[in-house]
Amino acid sequence: MRLELWEAVDDYFVDLLISSDPVLEAALHDCDSARLPQHHVSPNQGKLLHLFVQIQGTRRVLEIGTLGGYSTIWLARALPSDGYLVTLEANPHHAEVARKNLARAQLMDKVDLRVGNALETLPELQSAAPFDFIFIDADKPNNPYYLDWALRLAKPGTVIIGDNVVRNGEVANAQSSDPKVQGVRSFCELLAANPRVSATAIQTVGSKGYDGFAIARVTH
Ligand code: SAH
Ligand code: DHB
Ligand code: MG
Repeated sequence: MRLELWEAVDDYFVDLLISSDPVLEAALHDCDSARLPQHHVSPNQGKLLHLFVQIQGTRRVLEIGTLGGYSTIWLARALPSDGYLVTLEANPHHAEVARKNLARAQLMDKVDLRVGNALETLPELQSAAPFDFIFIDADKPNNPYYLDWALRLAKPGTVIIGDNVVRNGEVANAQSSDPKVQGVRSFCELLAANPRVSATAIQTVGSKGYDGFAIARVTH
């Protein structure tokens, strides 16, 4: 019942505010045909990422967790002509679907898709750093390590977004035995404890259920 209502409201906003786009729709279609998990951001969340990049005037984006490249398209399309985006994906099948979706979107000149465990590819990014905007959306148990790397690859003013930090409200359950919940809890606790960042977290409902994201700005 609640999910139905949230979905109806998302449909209303998406129909109203997000112009229908054959490239984004084809990307979602091909993610489904290739049986990728339906873990991509919703269209209105994708648009939010796109707006953040434009509002910040971002030139260099780092994304951890590409899946089929849906969020990547939203982010990369917001970049100026000299902007670039590095996206990290461990699963070669996901990366192959993403490569086709990004090629269809004519974004491969701006996007550097690196296949491999992000814990191994992140240390190779020192020369592409600093990044202005970092979207952390891969395996949640590793979020504390991704935050550590994000901070190393950041500069004052960098925005760091962590997706899926609410997890049906389980984030507030300290006793949770779910390693994903413990990963996002540690991530939020590290944000809170770090004097170099100013952070908040926002709950969301909609077509992707009950979840949310953390937003942090690197101050110095
Ligand atoms: N950002 C995407 C969704 C990402 S889903 C979107 O919104 O469209 C999470 C992705 O992280 C999956 O494709 C998964 O294969 C990838 N992943 C999981 N563990 C990883 C790791 N250790 N390194 C890199 N990618 C990883
Ligand atoms: C999960 C991961 C995601 O990135 C997402 O958007 C939704 C769910 C998950 O691992 O459960
Ligand atoms: Mg996510």
